[in-house]
Amino acid sequence: VTGAPTSRSQALGERLARVECPAFAHRRRLRAGDDAAPIVLASGHGSILLDVDGRRYLDLAAGFGAVLLGHGHPAVRRALEEQGSRLVQGLGDVHATDAKVELLETLAALHPDPRAKVLLAQSGADAVTAAIKTASLATGRDGLLAFEGAYHGLGYAPLAACGFRASFRAPFAAQLSAHVRFAPFPGLGGAGLDEALAAVERHLASGAIAAVLVEPVLGRGGCVVPPDSFLRDLCALAHREGALVVADEIWTGLGRTGSMARSLAVEAPVDLVCLGKGLGGGLPISACIGSDEAMQGWTRAGEVIHTSTHAGAPLACAAARAVIETVRAEGLAARAVELGARLCRRLEDALDGSAKLRAVRGAGLLVGIELDAPATAARALARLATRGYLAVSGGVLGDVVTLSPALTIEEAPLLAFADALRAVLDAVIDEG
Ligand SMILES: Cc1ncc(COP(=O)(O)O)c(C=O)c1O
Repeated sequence: VTGAPTSRSQALGERLARVECPAFAHRRRLRAGDDAAPIVLASGHGSILLDVDGRRYLDLAAGFGAVLLGHGHPAVRRALEEQGSRLVQGLGDVHATDAKVELLETLAALHPDPRAKVLLAQSGADAVTAAIKTASLATGRDGLLAFEGAYHGLGYAPLAACGFRASFRAPFAAQLSAHVRFAPFPGLGGAGLDEALAAVERHLASGAIAAVLVEPVLGRGGCVVPPDSFLRDLCALAHREGALVVADEIWTGLGRTGSMARSLAVEAPVDLVCLGKGLGGGLPISACIGSDEAMQGWTRAGEVIHTSTHAGAPLACAAARAVIETVRAEGLAARAVELGARLCRRLEDALDGSAKLRAVRGAGLLVGIELDAPATAARALARLATRGYLAVSGGVLGDVVTLSPALTIEEAPLLAFADALRAVLDAVIDEG
């Protein structure tokens, strides 16, 4: 469960450093210093991961939320075996496969518009790009309104709307869309609901905004949960000015925060919904689901499509259907809400009085523990790993320990994490 790095991880870490783009080693050094122990993962079962040295970890990150049902869930394995034995690749958007048709129907049915349409993509960034293009075609406008602290992926279209970290945009600033505007996100950096909505209203008044792009809960930005009315108000303001609303549910959707799409659950009439991460249960697939009216924009231009070789690949489609069916059949959305609430209470109790704690917050099984400084979060995460807990950092400053475990994670080990975190934070204080 615990221990100093042993030779296989160390050796693979050194081989990695010789061949991987240096951005990642550079980032690891910035966050954790030179002596962060490399962890090289080898296998997983449920919410348990094993590294190449046989050390066990409780997986509290689940591949940034991608492994929605846990590693090796039988429903996903069955779907992959069945589809894999028949057809692994079709012919994209030229000749569909039965797996793709069935997934499109399942996804379209998530949207309240009975004639909703779906664009499949491969990553979250790809789905957001599809949504931005859709909004632009539907409205004939170039502008995009995004939020401070928001993260939508790092392809060029979503990067322009990345309010999460200015340093991600800065080197490419001249190549990014000049038509993106930012508004404060309620609850982030002291911004209130009224202030955020007033900024949204001001930007929309220009008449140039095609879409407001919003995360129903700011994920990487630190698990910031706005009031439910925020999304409804946003839709009212946007629709009044002829703009669409794109809900980026890539982290919040598919049960993680309590419903298939949080925006729709709070009855916000969003036009486009992006899903990704957990959709493929670990396989890369994402989707942009839109009202028929918004999607008809694609027919108004000359020949124009958004596609790629692997979009709608049958293996990923089969996995995605299995994921959605399992979330429903096992009642995982409701479980996420209940278990997430118990986890937050447990964390609040265990961390009560710690000088390092700023806040515990989240929705369902997307939980953030804000600490006093980015360095505390980095040290806590490194120490947690040596105690057998894997989580990731978040927050605009990097001061939030972020938990997005599989929705199937067992309760007892999850709740035990709270005591481990307390012990780790106490140790950080003792070390000075
Ligand atoms: C809300 C949200 N949107 C989009 C993305 C980008 O997804 P991907 O990394 O698959 O491109 C992420 C990734 O963290 C995300 O959290």
